[in-house]
Amino acid sequence: MNNFSSRLITWQKQFGRHDLPWQNTADPYAIWVSEIMLQQTQVSAVIGYYGKFMARFPNIATLANATQDEVLQHWSGLGYYSRARNLHHAAQTIIDEHGATFPQDFETIQTLSGIGRSTAAAIASFAFNQVQTILDGNVKRVLSRHFTIAGWPGSPKIEKQLWALAESLLPEKDIIAYTQGLMDLGATLCTRSKPKCAACPLNNTCKAYKQNRVTELPTPKPKKVIPEKQITMLIFLRGNEVLLEKRPPTGIWGGLWSFPETESTDSFAAIAHDKFGMIVQEIQPLPILNHTFTHFKLHIRPQPLYALKQSTHVKEFGQVWLSIEDAIGAAIPTPVRKILQSLHANKT
Ligand code: ADE
Ligand code: SF4
Repeated sequence: MNNFSSRLITWQKQFGRHDLPWQNTADPYAIWVSEIMLQQTQVSAVIGYYGKFMARFPNIATLANATQDEVLQHWSGLGYYSRARNLHHAAQTIIDEHGATFPQDFETIQTLSGIGRSTAAAIASFAFNQVQTILDGNVKRVLSRHFTIAGWPGSPKIEKQLWALAESLLPEKDIIAYTQGLMDLGATLCTRSKPKCAACPLNNTCKAYKQNRVTELPTPKPKKVIPEKQITMLIFLRGNEVLLEKRPPTGIWGGLWSFPETESTDSFAAIAHDKFGMIVQEIQPLPILNHTFTHFKLHIRPQPLYALKQSTHVKEFGQVWLSIEDAIGAAIPTPVRKILQSLHANKT
């Protein structure tokens, strides 16, 4: 076995993580759910969600049979909701097209919604002991430093190089400790800032360490300005109730419940009247909330509107009045939860 993988495996067994909630199981479903949650999300943020999700959806069939609304409700606050929609869709595909059993073939795993090559490799190695390599952001960082690969790892050219390198490093045995070791090293020692090279099991072969180039690698993504958008969330209040509407199935926060939105800065009372048939009293807006997505920044102006009178004929499909407490428990995006919590806290 090559030096890189044997030292990583030895280190993982002694110093790596062994008691995360999704370890010590070979259930591909349990591993799959964890890998999807852990995409772009820290272990510390995932732990609380994972247990609740698995308690409600303990196997592929319960997930496939649930409504999308309930799946999103259990994902509410984790972000990147297409992950939850894809997970739900893939569970239904497994029931309908794979005999209700998680597929073992590496190529077939990658045909499921939301499972790319690296996630497929994590599942195949942890659940089926297959010798396949992962290559997520953490692993790209470790490899680009250890082998001094310059260039942004997200570019097709560098990524291709990193896949080939990662495959060449695969061990013949101990794939589970190896895969976990790659994750653990990137998360605990070879961190983005202030890596702990002195404690690293790979420091005597690491080229970046030897050449004092650890801080310059991996090469950062070329900067481009991301667009910004201002919107107002219309918070209709009726006693202890707020009005939520279901967002369209695609786009940001697809399928989640949210406050009605407007990009207009005209009189909100006029909008409330024309679009919602409500006579309202407009009060002081709440502080602006900023929310950053991958592609743009959203500035949210939460505008409370007391409903004085609602015309009876306006009851559009997809809108509901909910108590503030029930709304907090629904499938809602994080800024909406923050607004509801501040309304809840300000109640006397
Ligand atoms: N990140 C992605 N998959 C992980 C796992 N199985 N354990 C810890 N962190 C991870
Ligand atoms: Fe990363 Fe430092 Fe280890 Fe090199 S020596 S792999 S830079 S932690």
